[in-house]
Amino acid sequence: MENFSKTLIAWYEVNKRDLPWRNTQNPYYIWLSEIILQQTRVDQGLPYYIKFIETFPTIEELANASQDEVLRLWQGLGYYSRGRNLHYTAMLIVRDYNSQFPVNYDDLLKLKGIGNYTASAIASFCGNQHKAVVDGNVYRVLSRYFGIASDISLTATQKEFQLLADELLSKKNPGTHNQAIMEFGALQCVPKNPVCNKCPLQITCYAFAHKKVESLPVKSKKAKVKTRFFNYLVIKSQNRTTIKRRLAGDVWEGLYEFPLIESDAEIGEIAILDSQEFNRFISTNNYEITSISKQFKHQLTHQTIFCKFFEIKVVELTNAEGFESVLWSDLDNYPKPIVIQRFYTNN
Ligand code: ADE
Ligand code: SF4
Repeated sequence: MENFSKTLIAWYEVNKRDLPWRNTQNPYYIWLSEIILQQTRVDQGLPYYIKFIETFPTIEELANASQDEVLRLWQGLGYYSRGRNLHYTAMLIVRDYNSQFPVNYDDLLKLKGIGNYTASAIASFCGNQHKAVVDGNVYRVLSRYFGIASDISLTATQKEFQLLADELLSKKNPGTHNQAIMEFGALQCVPKNPVCNKCPLQITCYAFAHKKVESLPVKSKKAKVKTRFFNYLVIKSQNRTTIKRRLAGDVWEGLYEFPLIESDAEIGEIAILDSQEFNRFISTNNYEITSISKQFKHQLTHQTIFCKFFEIKVVELTNAEGFESVLWSDLDNYPKPIVIQRFYTNN
């Protein structure tokens, strides 16, 4: 057990990437990096991390920003609730914790957006607290090395791995051990074609000995992916258009969008004109559909969303409830789903 940790840490010292959040123990920076890196690859998250610490070098600066500013910086990372929780937690820490970011595991768990994994990461990286991280990398490394075939989609299995990871964790260097096992999973024991022939754990690895590398870890099928069709009315009157902020309880909460008609199949101009919503958004007969875009596909974890944009010229915008009229040239200042950004920058 001791050897497992020593081997990992020795491998890490030689092979680790030089990443900016590895040169700090400031919990605010570590927290930012971990929230950004949830569900995001390092190469994709890195520019966001740099943008965030440059724009908000301290937690006070993040707390004092508006939610729109934070979401605009977040734009493109997806999972916008993470961005909103980030802002919420920054404000809470400034207000209730005198701007001191906690580094104790139990205190961290109380914060919005921080679960077992992130609390363990911050507590071990910043405070050297004895808490093992368990993320996708850790599941993969441990399931292969120890030959554990339990389904990692199940809560019981997650507990099983947490116990094992806690047991393996270095007593002396829990922070480095945690970084090491994640880096090992990210660079060495990778999902497809891991580098077994150059692996310091190979001689004692169960999966390697039993030819189970490709079949571990075991993960049951994902939930079915739902398909949705978003038809946006891009209503323009001279240099203005109408947009609305999306509400809670669905994708893209807090982001801005054009008037939306959702359908469960692809529809065209006639169905749009026939829809009940159309009259809510356009209460005049004096309109002209000037263009219909191609379909833009946006893939989320459990949803595929196809977006189509119907550009409509009117003499005067309708005041639909919840909508605001904005200058077309100001659209840049509103956080938007990336698919709307793509449509709008092509124009
Ligand atoms: N993914 C999640 N956290 C990470 C970290 N601290 N370093 C590299 N990749 C990560
Ligand atoms: Fe992973 Fe292969 Fe090393 Fe086993 S031998 S730990 S499967 S890289």
